[in-house]
Amino acid sequence: MPGPAIELRNVSLSFDAKRVLNNVSFALGRGETLFLLGVTGSGKSVLLKVMLGLLKPDDGQVLIDGQDVVPFSEEQLQPVRRRMGIVFQEGALFDSLSVFENVAYRLREEHLADDASLEQQVREVLRFVEMEAAIEKSPSELSGGMRRRVAIARTIISNPAIMLYDSPTGGLDPVTCLTINVLIAKMRDLQHVTSVVVTQRLQDAYELVNSVYSQEKQTLVPVNGASGSRPVTRFLMLRDAEVYFQGNEQEFTHSTDAYVQKFLA
Ligand SMILES: Nc1ncnc2c1ncn2[C@@H]1O[C@H](COP(=O)(O)OP(=O)(O)O)[C@@H](O)[C@H]1O
Ligand SMILES: [Mg+2]
Repeated sequence: MPGPAIELRNVSLSFDAKRVLNNVSFALGRGETLFLLGVTGSGKSVLLKVMLGLLKPDDGQVLIDGQDVVPFSEEQLQPVRRRMGIVFQEGALFDSLSVFENVAYRLREEHLADDASLEQQVREVLRFVEMEAAIEKSPSELSGGMRRRVAIARTIISNPAIMLYDSPTGGLDPVTCLTINVLIAKMRDLQHVTSVVVTQRLQDAYELVNSVYSQEKQTLVPVNGASGSRPVTRFLMLRDAEVYFQGNEQEFTHSTDAYVQKFLA
């Protein structure tokens, strides 16, 4: 399919009198990564929900694989949402269910697998996030980073072509942050997933910009030493509901704008 995976055209959204997105436009190609930046309250989470069709904009178009999903009914949105996965900020696991049941949830809901293939698929994604050993555990027995990895497993089980991550490393220690970045890169580089990553940590963005996942080493390696091409990365900064900056990492890093500079500091 030609054209961008996600494109927003002049999207605006207000809650009561408050404008939370104002004329937001951008396009993200297949397999590309967008880092979404901005201070708390600038509209990042709302923007992700608009992409998923969970919130309808008052104005503008939201094209997913070239289709404007704004006029779509809940029923029409279902196949679109099946191609997308979101990892919410809080991880949002069901504490009353085991890791297995949490990860199996989406396939069970949609009756997509029989029991034998369900277990096989759950094990496969848990192995992907290196959490297979915890399959019988309850989420409450896991650390923050482990919960986040299970949340990612739960999302990727339906093989989404587009992944949205809302502050995936928020509140985690640096070592755990790295394990999450490895997973994001793994999805990007092995599955060619289109990614939107909300982040407060610029070092996470740069880690993902400057490295690729090596299947051989099973971790990130510097992009310069790796075969294959550099991942295509874009940066978009929201400020007061508007796109304040967008560009590639060169343009972002070398921006002379005082506000962007402050973010980089
Ligand atoms: N469901 C809602 N109802 C009313 N206001 C909301 C709702 N969701 C978000 N907002 C407001 O929209 C603005 C942007 O929120 P959000 O996207 O969560 O910010 P961010 O994720 O960048 O911190 C905030 O002022 C927030 O209070
Ligand atoms: Mg948010």
